[in-house]
Amino acid sequence: MDNQHPLGRHPGWPAKLGPLRVKAGQVALRPPRLLDGGAWSRARLRDQAHLENWEPTAPGTWADRNAPFAWPGQWSALRSLARRGMSLPFVITVDGELAGQLTVGNVVRGSLCSAWVGYWVASTAVSGGVATAAVALAVDHCFSRAGLHRLEATVRPENGPSLRVLAKLGFREEGLFRRYLDVAGDWRDHACLALTTEDVPNGLVNRLVADGGAAWA
Ligand SMILES: CC(C)(COP(=O)(O)OP(=O)(O)OC[C@H]1O[C@@H](n2cnc3c(N)ncnc32)[C@H](O)[C@@H]1OP(=O)(O)O)[C@@H](O)C(=O)NCCC(=O)NCCS
Repeated sequence: MDNQHPLGRHPGWPAKLGPLRVKAGQVALRPPRLLDGGAWSRARLRDQAHLENWEPTAPGTWADRNAPFAWPGQWSALRSLARRGMSLPFVITVDGELAGQLTVGNVVRGSLCSAWVGYWVASTAVSGGVATAAVALAVDHCFSRAGLHRLEATVRPENGPSLRVLAKLGFREEGLFRRYLDVAGDWRDHACLALTTEDVPNGLVNRLVADGGAAWA
């Protein structure tokens, strides 16, 4: 399938999104930086129990995969995919500090114009509206400057907080993918939820703000 876009090779990248104010603080998205390694590693090493049941299985130990020395390789891979128009990787910040990541991946253009969205938020910042605000910012960006038509999220049915984030944003549950992804050492079922541009004609951030879930910062 044609992966080029009439407006350019990778419209919408690089970008800074937000900020939005939520209970946890001021939420913004920006491209990952090489210098994020220390904060990224500290959060990920501390949060193994919070994160590993929801992330794809990968070779090596958690400690090795999330050590400071692992970041330059990850950063470079994310940047390379972004430069080729296949991904929009973001760091989530709360009050200017790294508090998670949000990645729009597998960008396919042509007659599909679709991608998936994935995210994590550090345990120190959860339940304060951070992921909800971050996903809303990303959706609006993808449906405007990045020129996409559909975004999907796949979530384990056991992941209550993530399903709640998507429900608050009006993502539609489209089906259950059986044994879809190798997560935490086994093939796990995932619910597939999605939005298309028609679902949010006035923007998702506008709707979130109108519903009281966030405020313009
Ligand atoms: C899922 C995750 C990103 C949510 O981040 P967050 O910043 O806490 O999200 P928000 O605060 O915007 O929303 C979380 C909602 O879930 C609710 N919640 C918390 N624990 C819950 C549970 N066990 N079951 C159901 N809902 C729950 C919160 O109360 C909140 O809803 P509310 O605003 O109506 O009160 C975060 O928990 C995380 O990183 N988890 C580990 C990684 C992960 O699961 N990534 C997603 C993979 S699909």
